[in-house]
Amino acid sequence: MIRVLLAGAGAMGRAWLAAIHADPGVELAGVVDLDPAAARRAAAGLPAGADVAVLGAETAADAVIDVTVPVAHHAVTTTALFAGMSVLGEKPVADTLARALSLVAAAEVSGRLFMVSQSRRWNPQLATLRAMAAALGPVGAVGTDFHRAPRFGGFREEMAQPLLVDMAIHAFDAARYLLDADPVTVSCQTWNPPWSWYAGDACAAAVFEMTGGARYVYHGSWCSPGAETSWNGEWRVSAQHGTARWDGDHEPTGPAVDPPDGQRSGIGAALRAFAEALESGVTPMGEVHGNVLSLAMVEAAVDSAARGRPVPIDDVLARAHERAVRDETRADVRAALRNWTDVRTALSST
Ligand SMILES: NC(=O)c1ccc[n+]([C@@H]2O[C@H](COP(=O)([O-])OP(=O)(O)OC[C@H]3O[C@@H](n4cnc5c(N)ncnc54)[C@H](O)[C@@H]3O)[C@@H](O)[C@H]2O)c1
Repeated sequence: MIRVLLAGAGAMGRAWLAAIHADPGVELAGVVDLDPAAARRAAAGLPAGADVAVLGAETAADAVIDVTVPVAHHAVTTTALFAGMSVLGEKPVADTLARALSLVAAAEVSGRLFMVSQSRRWNPQLATLRAMAAALGPVGAVGTDFHRAPRFGGFREEMAQPLLVDMAIHAFDAARYLLDADPVTVSCQTWNPPWSWYAGDACAAAVFEMTGGARYVYHGSWCSPGAETSWNGEWRVSAQHGTARWDGDHEPTGPAVDPPDGQRSGIGAALRAFAEALESGVTPMGEVHGNVLSLAMVEAAVDSAARGRPVPIDDVLARAHERAVRDETRADVRAALRNWTDVRTALSST
């Protein structure tokens, strides 16, 4: 039985509460939120508080599920790791790539597991599409079309790059999983049509060169009324021996493949994988080292759109590393970051 603290009792925190209660191997030890009333409501009689280290000591919890807002991920996760707890964090790993690298080093120094939950990675239909892609021989291109028209109100309508920063990471991370490849360069344009209800750019088109040579092409919009795609987007894998397609909601079409293992999907599957990793010591999919390049794809796409030219991912990683070393407040984490000779190599070692 793994005892967890839930940090962040907002909209997504409620979904995590349900996932915790649905897993017989995981027990809720307490809830942390800056808003004491929200923490108490979610805790329903269990310990509640505003500080993850204090509540961790009080409850002897094994782990923290960090479902706070992205800007708080770095502080909450660092505190939890150095208080001796493992962490399962919501995407994005942090609000900036530099802080994500700091969290990688913090996981190394603390010796605790930090896994990032990218819920769509755990979609069994995506796993089937991945098996189809592998059966089709060398892949030339993978494409995602994502077109919706949500009226969120609030912060998303004020952000400079709402689609890339708040949404596209799901597709970018899924593309890495699908191709079993990492990004090399990106060329991206973003724009905002005259009818958009977003202040920032609600549309983006990005071409990534991936390791191995395949291209990943993302075309998305958050102000595209009519014929909306799935929230997962529509996918096409174009390979030497054929094509596989996925509408994002139903079984993909392509060559016959064995169904994927496991019944769970989404955050329930991520939670189970985290609990099993804590028991077995085996590194799970989503461990922080393996997740960071998905956030790098977002930051590089934003950078390419701003500069109006292709951007090498290694340049973005190097700049983030410099900033991470400069901004780090813990001496032990700064020393670990300084020891990295090359960020990509550091991220490939777990
Ligand atoms: N996987 C998905 O599909 C998906 C969907 C929605 C949100 N998310 C992610 O989930 C996370 C939370 O999103 P949300 O929509 O629930 O946000 P939210 O604003 O509804 O809730 C966040 C909560 O965190 C609390 N909080 C903020 N700073 C804190 C701190 N330092 N310590 C403790 N609590 C703190 C806030 O008081 C709030 O209650 C984000 O990282 C978001 O990207 C993922």
